[in-house]
Amino acid sequence: MTSRVAVIGWPVNHSRSPLIHTYWLDRYGIDASYGALAIEPDKAPDWFGTFAKQGLVGANVTIPHKQVAFDACHTLDERASRLGAVNTLWLEAGALRGTSTDGAGFMAHLVATAPQWRQHAHAAAALVLGAGGAARAIVEALAEAGVETIIIANRTAERAHQIATHFAEYHPQHTFKPVDLATAGDFLPTVGLLVNTTSMGMAGHPALDLDLATLPEKATVYDIVYTPLETPLLADARALGLVPVDGLGMLLHQAAPAFERWFGILPEVTDELRQMVIDDLNR
Ligand code: ATR
Repeated sequence: MTSRVAVIGWPVNHSRSPLIHTYWLDRYGIDASYGALAIEPDKAPDWFGTFAKQGLVGANVTIPHKQVAFDACHTLDERASRLGAVNTLWLEAGALRGTSTDGAGFMAHLVATAPQWRQHAHAAAALVLGAGGAARAIVEALAEAGVETIIIANRTAERAHQIATHFAEYHPQHTFKPVDLATAGDFLPTVGLLVNTTSMGMAGHPALDLDLATLPEKATVYDIVYTPLETPLLADARALGLVPVDGLGMLLHQAAPAFERWFGILPEVTDELRQMVIDDLNR
């Protein structure tokens, strides 16, 4: 019988995960299907709670279900436990297991696109804009990668404080500094890496109001927004001779370890796949 995997969200029709995973299934000749299922938020606890009966061998989870899916898991790895959210589910002997590949995807794309980020004179400090679920996965990935000081700038200061306090418990040797988004510019001269995890700069949203001119030379600017592929932030970074890293790679690289989990092959993020997703986004 053909194994079924799907991405679960609400809404879910914007998701490019079916496109990505179907490309890999074809490429590696695996007899499986990858679809998309829209599950209403009020039905989600029950749906994830009875996952073994849904006819799927695994799933990706997207907005707004990452925490509900976390709650339904019987066993979690350490990363998922720290984040309180999962984006990848699978069954093991009938038990639901979950992890998050968002942080690994973020880091894999950074290493692939801007490997020199670690050698930067200010690589010991990074500035993360935003304090939502994506920011959590990224702050965790940066701490794991050894970034000593992580400044978290958010419009709602309280959320930045929550993340900082949460991760300080797990990484006592690191410094997590919560600041107001309006003051983010003050910290630019001290960091080798700037990451935008807010929705600002996304098509239909206002751009960030941040002058990148005070970032150190050759600093890396990573925007996880990928619609448009070159956000105003990345365009500014390019114009200033900084190193821009777009958000599409994170989407592709977070998918790869999930695919490996279900099908046993770590698939390659190829230029052809990237172009296919870009063409689809432009459609
Ligand atoms: P995700 O889980 O994808 O990270 P989220 O939890 O909705 O999504 O987080 C979105 C982030 O974008 C938050 O940091 C949010 O700031 P608040 O915590 O203050 O809401 C930020 N954000 C969204 N719109 C914004 C805006 N117009 N100005 C500043 N920050 C904004």
